[in-house]
Amino acid sequence: MAESIIVTETTDRKTLYRELYPQLESLTLNETDLIANLANIVGALRQTFQFFWVGVYFVKGEELVLGPFQGPVACTRISFGKGVCGSSWKRKETILVPDVEKFPGHIACSSESKSEIVIPALDDSENVFLVLDVDSDRLDDFSETDQIELENIARLIEKLWNKQPSSV
Ligand code: SME
Repeated sequence: MAESIIVTETTDRKTLYRELYPQLESLTLNETDLIANLANIVGALRQTFQFFWVGVYFVKGEELVLGPFQGPVACTRISFGKGVCGSSWKRKETILVPDVEKFPGHIACSSESKSEIVIPALDDSENVFLVLDVDSDRLDDFSETDQIELENIARLIEKLWNKQPSSV
């Protein structure tokens, strides 16, 4: 079956997120393979918004390990509490960074990344199992709209996590 994402030609992110979300649901909710679903979600986000980098990191032991992503190659492992991703894991909350140079301990996988938002996804025991990381090559590129809508997509990822036959 041909899969495609169709959205209005607009730069209004709220419109784009509202159009994208049901398509993400129909793309993923009948598929139980988590990696395949995450690959399509990050691909759809990058395709829709042309973000510089979109990807996920999985919690594995005391580290985050790189998962499906789109964009330039990135750091493979991030320790608990380190960088924006490790801090989001530790705090169990979204971190929106308007200027990465002003975030103490930011991990610069690319010098082109200027602003960033990281959203954690939690399992039924309230443990973080993954973080969704979106980077922009523009300063201050993420707003409350991005936070709300990307958190909504993290809730979809939580549903997909729970639907797996066994965890990755
Ligand atoms: N900047 C992130 C590292 C991951 S890359 O941006 C893809 C951080 O500080 O955690």
